Amino acid sequence: MNFFTKDNKTAFEAISSAQFIAFAPILFQASKALRDFGILEAVSKSGEEGITLQEIYPQVKLSEYGARVLLEAGLGIGLLLRNNDKYTITKTGHFILNDRMTRVNMDFSNDVCYEGMFSLADSIKEGKPTGLKALGDWPTIYEGLSILPQPAKDSWFHFDHYYSDGSFDLALKHVFKYHPKHILDIGANTGKFTLKSMAKDPDVKVTLLDLPIQLNVARQNIEKAGYSDRVGYHPIDILIDANRFPKGADAIWMSQFLDCFSEDEIVSILKRCHEAISDDGHIFIMETFWDKQKFEVGAFSLQMTSLYFTNLANGNSQMYDSAVFNKLIDKAGLKIVEQIDQVGVSHTLQICKRK
Ligand SMILES: C[S@@+](CC[C@H](N)C(=O)[O-])C[C@H]1O[C@@H](n2cnc3c(N)ncnc32)[C@H](O)[C@@H]1O
Repeated sequence: MNFFTKDNKTAFEAISSAQFIAFAPILFQASKALRDFGILEAVSKSGEEGITLQEIYPQVKLSEYGARVLLEAGLGIGLLLRNNDKYTITKTGHFILNDRMTRVNMDFSNDVCYEGMFSLADSIKEGKPTGLKALGDWPTIYEGLSILPQPAKDSWFHFDHYYSDGSFDLALKHVFKYHPKHILDIGANTGKFTLKSMAKDPDVKVTLLDLPIQLNVARQNIEKAGYSDRVGYHPIDILIDANRFPKGADAIWMSQFLDCFSEDEIVSILKRCHEAISDDGHIFIMETFWDKQKFEVGAFSLQMTSLYFTNLANGNSQMYDSAVFNKLIDKAGLKIVEQIDQVGVSHTLQICKRK
């Protein structure tokens, strides 16, 4: 990683970027309104020729005033251009409208994070997810995942699955080169990785570990796919140190899981993995480390996602810097035997063994 080491901006670029931050919540909502009211789409469809305010506002069923303030904001934000009273879309506007990753991130920011984030400073001071009350009354977001109000529920799952889905197939070949017989899928969520493992190897067995409410969802998905005879369930609150894992599996899979916990909690989980895994077994950790991203914007997205953990998820976890994380692996008595960076959009796969 060779970003975040130099300030390359001119003073003029810097003061401009400071204004983007100063007005960030407003420009975020304006961009979302331009997208959701269909204004970006109408402008995009007009192509290079462009479209006037007078033509747009009846099309999108807004008042002339409403469409005008949004279109003008779109110019300043950089989503639109105007020449001879005709609006055309910019490349940034195109991505806000059409790019799946941008849409997933924007909907997650709005539907899951936006309201709660007003109390981010309190979360930092208290080490508690003070913004979570905007969504429901749970100690952490995980107790509420399967019963989140809409649209937060869909936006949370689209965000989670967008990043992990793309990496599962790539990671699977690394897991199965060790021919595991029994995998513990810890933090199994809706059972997506387990389903892929079932399809990959007709002999492999998987035990899913997650909170009871979450395992109900996974169980339905696995029963529907007809894999019940090779799958076991181990409901667990992993935050309770005394809750141990089933012993003897030769592979443990944890994807986008350990980032849900504080440093001390991660060490406790990894020590229990150490205790549970068979002598020659492997522990597969798939995480998104901000320092392992190919592009600065990838690191930026993860640094912002960390604050979702601070304010909404649990108040004490994050998307880690791999240097911080690797010390925890070591502290738990494990060693990394292989590491594959840039798996899918943003993941690193660490393959660990007992020291
Ligand atoms: C971010 S999701 C990752 C899901 C999945 N492994 C993936 O890659 O998409 C984190 C998972 O950890 C589970 N989890 C969070 N806190 C937990 C706890 N205290 N005990 C057990 N599972 C927990 C959640 O229910 C959720 O399924």
